[in-house]
Amino acid sequence: MSNFNANLTGQVAIVTGAGGGLGSVFCEALAKAGAHVVAADYNGTAAEATASRLKEQGFPICSFKVDVTSPEETEALAAFAREAFERVDILVNTAAFMEPVLQPLLQYPMDLWRRTLDVNLTGPLNCIRAVAPIMSARTYGRIINISSGGAYSAAHAYGVSKLALQGLTSWLATELGSSGITVNAIAPGALNTAQGDKARPPQYVEMLRAVTPLKPLGEPDDLIGALLFLASDASSWTTGQTVRVDGGWIKSVL
Ligand SMILES: NC(=O)c1ccc[n+]([C@@H]2O[C@H](COP(=O)([O-])OP(=O)(O)OC[C@H]3O[C@@H](n4cnc5c(N)ncnc54)[C@H](O)[C@@H]3O)[C@@H](O)[C@H]2O)c1
Repeated sequence: MSNFNANLTGQVAIVTGAGGGLGSVFCEALAKAGAHVVAADYNGTAAEATASRLKEQGFPICSFKVDVTSPEETEALAAFAREAFERVDILVNTAAFMEPVLQPLLQYPMDLWRRTLDVNLTGPLNCIRAVAPIMSARTYGRIINISSGGAYSAAHAYGVSKLALQGLTSWLATELGSSGITVNAIAPGALNTAQGDKARPPQYVEMLRAVTPLKPLGEPDDLIGALLFLASDASSWTTGQTVRVDGGWIKSVL
């Protein structure tokens, strides 16, 4: 794991998608920095597996089963964290639905479109609506939305949902700044996770290799520096930003 340090002692972090490849690494990084972590996932067994692994190492972490598309369930998640720890300082919206279907417009499966936007865009919005009042009460919060390099090709529902998530980040940074809450995003490039491997054809990695100055595939650990920066006081004057952590794949001066 990355040796970038941040001191989150006594803080409380909710991580959605905590049963997945990236979410479980995020839970570990936040716990190692001193935070109490609530590992939340639709897949309750996977969330509990993440929590058990870290509990065995002595970290304060518990799991919670949540469907982020349900406002009632995200409210229950926030209430659980507040009752257990009396505060919520950090929210990491990692949960996502990734089904890369490249169909022409008229054949595009509309149920997939709806599901993708529901999980990847409305899900983070539900979570933010649930935690914002708790964070506002202490005039402090760090919200991190996990976008994707896929946002920049805006291909199919997944890419569009991730670009829209960056728009949501910008909107809510503006709205919540006066409450002491920062809202930023991380757009990872292609990662070596089970889900990432499933989602891309082998020739995609060769295409990435040709245009990426650093290694074409990242490890989840490569995101920890950005995560801890955005989750900590170090980013106190940073909001509304999307940090691209992708080996230099996407290059833009804007
Ligand atoms: N893996 C990559 O190459 C890559 C690249 C760029 C961005 N990302 C982003 O990183 C994040 C994590 O990716 P990953 O590789 O860990 O994927 P993953 O599939 O391993 O994890 C996603 C997790 O989200 C959970 N989830 C799905 N729908 C949910 C819902 N409705 N409510 C609650 N939880 C739900 C799943 O159960 C799963 O545990 C995603 O936001 C993804 O878009 C991944």
